[in-house]
Amino acid sequence: MVMKSTLLFLSRQEKLKNFVLRFEFAQKVSRRFVSGETQEQAILAVKDMNQKGFFATLDRLGENVTNKDEASKAADDYIMLLDKINQNNVDSNVSCKLTQMGLDLDFDFCVNNVKRIVEKAKEHNNFVRIDMEDSPRTDKTLQVCFALHKDYQNVGAVIQAYLYRSEEDVRKLLEQKIRIRLCKGAYKESKKVAFQKKKEVDDNFVKLTKMMLKSGVYHGIATHDDKMIQATIDFAKKENIPKESYEFQFLYGIRRELQEDLVKKGYNVRIYVPYGDQWYPYFMRRMAERPANLFFVAKNYFRR
Ligand code: FDA
Repeated sequence: MVMKSTLLFLSRQEKLKNFVLRFEFAQKVSRRFVSGETQEQAILAVKDMNQKGFFATLDRLGENVTNKDEASKAADDYIMLLDKINQNNVDSNVSCKLTQMGLDLDFDFCVNNVKRIVEKAKEHNNFVRIDMEDSPRTDKTLQVCFALHKDYQNVGAVIQAYLYRSEEDVRKLLEQKIRIRLCKGAYKESKKVAFQKKKEVDDNFVKLTKMMLKSGVYHGIATHDDKMIQATIDFAKKENIPKESYEFQFLYGIRRELQEDLVKKGYNVRIYVPYGDQWYPYFMRRMAERPANLFFVAKNYFRR
């Protein structure tokens, strides 16, 4: 628990980020969880995954931008990416974070950036998932999803099972038939807003999964946890919910055997494929989820 909190604290340290990003070794290690630095490398990774039977969602790494130029550039990159997904005929949608689109700078400007991406996705019959960040941004993030969904159906939300508010949010999203990705939640949250015990988060995850699966909307169950996956499968079987009406989602590089096993069993599996050079906070959150990953990093360091 202390290790997890420390790693999440370090994930937010700008100076440390700038220091670590300079090391070639660190870049090499990040490749365990990041597909590459360029769009071309990411598309190649998706091609490979598609051949193995997976769908993908591409994420241009980067968050908490500090000026509008950076945010506009990020939106432009997503637009280019959607064109490339189409040109290369790969099966991938995109996931984006609103703090990369300027959420903390100017709300309307941020909405406009995401709208440009969603419009391009619509042109290619594709889909945009808005990732969920830390709890001070939950309201605004959902506000953007609801606002855009009124005009574009190809946009979806993410709900974090660790937040007390999530049941109510799921209800509201389902009323509008908005597609949801359910995850446990990756940020450090206080007991004022979030369950702290794993069992409580897991119980809420199962509860929300059931609400989502019964809705008839195509949702994503995003977890590497065998118990959550089994609970989803059991519930779907009991309720005669067909395998094609939902999907499992995994992060790139995590529990590959389990990913493959689900595909073999005929389940839809989507892999979240990050790319880009701004991998530090993403990478540190992955370390926090499983501090044993630090041993993997250390092993690679001493192998050099
Ligand atoms: P849990 O953390 O309980 O882990 C269960 C088991 O999975 C572990 O025992 C271990 O075996 C394995 N495992 C989990 N994490 C691992 C890791 N990093 N490395 C190796 N093994 C690991 N969060 C968020 O706040 N906003 C978001 O938008 C998203 N988006 C998102 C998309 C997708 C596709 C996924 C899979 C996850 C997210 N997340 C996220 C992250 C999510 O909230 C959560 O932090 C991680 O998925 C870890 O939780 P698990 O459900 O895997 O369970």
